[in-house]
Amino acid sequence: MPHDEGPATTDDFRLLLGHIPTGVVAVTATRDNRPVGLVVGSFFSISLRPPLIGFGVNNTSSSWPLISAGHTFCVNVLAADQDDVSRALATAGPDKFANLRWHTSEAGSPVIDGALAYLDCDLHTSHNAGDHQLIIGLVHCFHHLRSAAPLVFYRREYWSLSSTPGSRHRA
Ligand SMILES: Cc1cc2nc3c(=O)[nH]c(=O)nc-3n(C[C@H](O)[C@H](O)[C@H](O)COP(=O)(O)O)c2cc1C
Repeated sequence: MPHDEGPATTDDFRLLLGHIPTGVVAVTATRDNRPVGLVVGSFFSISLRPPLIGFGVNNTSSSWPLISAGHTFCVNVLAADQDDVSRALATAGPDKFANLRWHTSEAGSPVIDGALAYLDCDLHTSHNAGDHQLIIGLVHCFHHLRSAAPLVFYRREYWSLSSTPGSRHRA
């Protein structure tokens, strides 16, 4: 399909993008004393000074308006054994956290037990981008919690990295 005609269908486009493996993070916040959150695979790092991160949020997300209203949120980096956490937070509903264990970060956002790391962020800017918003966060605090394999999403399934040290190529 020539690029100026756009992707053949939305499904084809989604299928193609699914061939790019991504990490999985949970973006969480506290709203009206309740935990809120959604799963994000589009997370990326942007800047070291100042420390900026970004991700895309679908305009259909019901959790994001609750999160963004507070102007502060937490990015939880999920581990390979947390696919159940990802499923829970990727399913819209009133109490996504019912079966999750979590504690509170310095900034008051939920940190999910078992996460590899978390980053407390302030909402820096958001930009309209098609049917998504491009969110940029300013990181004001971060912690590495656990040395374990990260959760990876690839071709609509959850994976764990299996290469052993020495078999990988250094950047
Ligand atoms: C692995 C994975 C990655 C996802 N990545 C994103 C993403 O980058 N942006 C997004 O808006 N939704 C993403 N989603 C979907 C949202 O998690 C889901 O639509 C959302 O949690 C729906 O609940 P809500 O209405 O409470 O926001 C992803 C889902 C999964 C399973």
